[in-house]
Amino acid sequence: MSGALVDRTIIVSGAGGGIGSATVDQCLTEGANVVAFDLASLGLAELKKRAGQRLIVVEADVTSSVDWERVRDESLAKFGTLDGLVNNAGIEGSMSPLVEYPEQIFDQVLAVNVKGVFLGVKIVAPAMTGTNKSIVNVSSVAGLAGASGLGAYVASKHAVIGLTKTAAIELAGDGVRCNAVCPAPIRTRMMDSLIDSMKSDERDAAAIEGLIADSIPLGRIGDASEVAALMVFLLSDAASFISGAAVPVDGAMKAR
Ligand SMILES: NC(=O)c1ccc[n+]([C@@H]2O[C@H](COP(=O)([O-])OP(=O)(O)OC[C@H]3O[C@@H](n4cnc5c(N)ncnc54)[C@H](O)[C@@H]3O)[C@@H](O)[C@H]2O)c1
Repeated sequence: MSGALVDRTIIVSGAGGGIGSATVDQCLTEGANVVAFDLASLGLAELKKRAGQRLIVVEADVTSSVDWERVRDESLAKFGTLDGLVNNAGIEGSMSPLVEYPEQIFDQVLAVNVKGVFLGVKIVAPAMTGTNKSIVNVSSVAGLAGASGLGAYVASKHAVIGLTKTAAIELAGDGVRCNAVCPAPIRTRMMDSLIDSMKSDERDAAAIEGLIADSIPLGRIGDASEVAALMVFLLSDAASFISGAAVPVDGAMKAR
């Protein structure tokens, strides 16, 4: 694709992370103005070094409506338009069976992964301008089926798809499309952390990576750029009749 997002202003949450930073890069390559936001982090500091004419970087928390209003206002003040939103920020929570799952961590996962998406849609959608308004929410293959040990994460990613479908119906009259992407395991900090929590005396990180790759028919873990490419497509005019979808980007993992 080339120039698919020229003159569009796209907000990306969780922009300092693996999939977020790949999405920021591809949106910039396609000509968009990008509003990248995240909690204070190393990733955000890296992005700040690149801020300029078409990229602003904001420190903000997706669980705070006040922060979302600030992100929306700074986007409009800098670029004057608001065409796209990528609700990408997310946390994995703990790896533990439901009957042992820490209540406080359950609340945190739902706050970031579900309330964060809800607030983004609620606060940004009414401020969107332009002729191809598009929201992309990051769900997961964990939004399509259960996964042992990841109860809060699985619940949150199913909820993201529910919010996506509802937003697609409610916002259609305003010309806003809303879709979800459902990645399989992708090589980022989050996946490293999940692999870490699965390690045992019998299985080191390499063995676990091998098992994960074997669960994916294409035989490998995905790359953040492959998720970003799907998001750019869903943000672009090329996807003008696609709304309310939950699109796997998973090497056929969920085709089984
Ligand atoms: N990596 C995978 O295997 C995988 C697979 C499917 C879905 N996902 C989803 O992709 C998205 C991005 O994950 P990633 O793999 O790039 O992980 P990551 O940890 O590299 O990135 C997540 C980013 O979200 C940010 N974040 C967390 N809480 C936040 C908050 N309250 N406010 C603002 N930002 C916040 C983090 O600081 C981080 O930069 C997540 O929603 C994740 O659930 C990841």
